[in-house]
Amino acid sequence: MQRTLSLLTPSGHLTLGNLLGALRPMAAAATAAPAGCFYGVADLHAMTTPHDPGRLRALTAETATLMLAAGLDDATVFVQSRVPAHAQLAYLLECTATTGELGRMIQFKQKAGDESTRAALFTYPALMAADILLYRPDQVPVGADQRQHVELTRDLALRFNRLYGPVFTVPELVLPTAGARVMRLDDPARKMGKSDADEAGVVLLLDPPDVVRRKVARAVTDSDTGPDAVRAAPDKPGVSNLLDVLAACGGSPEGLTTYGALKRAVTDAVVAELEPLQKRYAELAADPGHVASVLEAGAARCREVAGPVLAEAQSVMGLGPS
Ligand code: TYM
Repeated sequence: MQRTLSLLTPSGHLTLGNLLGALRPMAAAATAAPAGCFYGVADLHAMTTPHDPGRLRALTAETATLMLAAGLDDATVFVQSRVPAHAQLAYLLECTATTGELGRMIQFKQKAGDESTRAALFTYPALMAADILLYRPDQVPVGADQRQHVELTRDLALRFNRLYGPVFTVPELVLPTAGARVMRLDDPARKMGKSDADEAGVVLLLDPPDVVRRKVARAVTDSDTGPDAVRAAPDKPGVSNLLDVLAACGGSPEGLTTYGALKRAVTDAVVAELEPLQKRYAELAADPGHVASVLEAGAARCREVAGPVLAEAQSVMGLGPS
């Protein structure tokens, strides 16, 4: 059976980028082969930058509930810190990765500041590789910003297998055809991110329809207003982004000749995408006991699946009895 794995970090409220780049492809895989899908909330990853414990706990619950609401409820859904094998394998992979490799990670270079940068921000890709390799997945569906981390994971799996023995499968990165890199509506040069303090150009999954409408209405487009103004082009990043979002939400650009018409079509498509998810979220959020028991069962299954893989990795590295 096909194995699929992916996690989301509870570092902010989930965005339209998280939905189109990750949650929707993850839900599609869960529909096709639910028993082979492992989807997690990467709460340990949310501690790599200064964090507030109460906010982390609340965002972990919100992220897990949104994942279930997005149609992942047939898969194994878990919280990373409840499965200790993740942190344990991460250490073994820190002993496999080099400082040169970790220092080349774009996200590290972007986020690292001065000497007060947390050490875990530097080693984060080893933890992410552990998240993946513990489950021997065939596919890892993610947005384009995670490409470099998944490629490093593949390199580490190959190196580990070569040095110590064939423990890990080398997973394939899967990017969606549309929505792989959703940009901010107010600044299409920047990725739509959930940890951005300024939410003006960021559509949140729990934004009500009128807020979505206002944010899309204020989206940056272009000064060109000719008859073929509504088209994707490298010099039209704002328009290209709106067309990409429209396509990812199943809309068509057919007959759209003005930016106003494009924005109305994008709003309608995004609202139609969010409405069922928000309805389901409200139902699940009203029953936190149910969500907690789903996560509990998910973590128990993960411990069963990941435990033997961790034990194999420890053994071939020379830990414990032979
Ligand atoms: P995170 O939490 O930043 O994002 C979660 C998922 O959403 C995708 N994504 C986007 N896709 C399209 N457009 C955007 N603007 C956009 N923003 C985010 C991300 O690519 C990701 O798929 N390190 C990871 C979480 C992680 C993980 C893993 C992922 C931890 N362990 C193992 C896969 C496998 C992260 O912080 O993603």
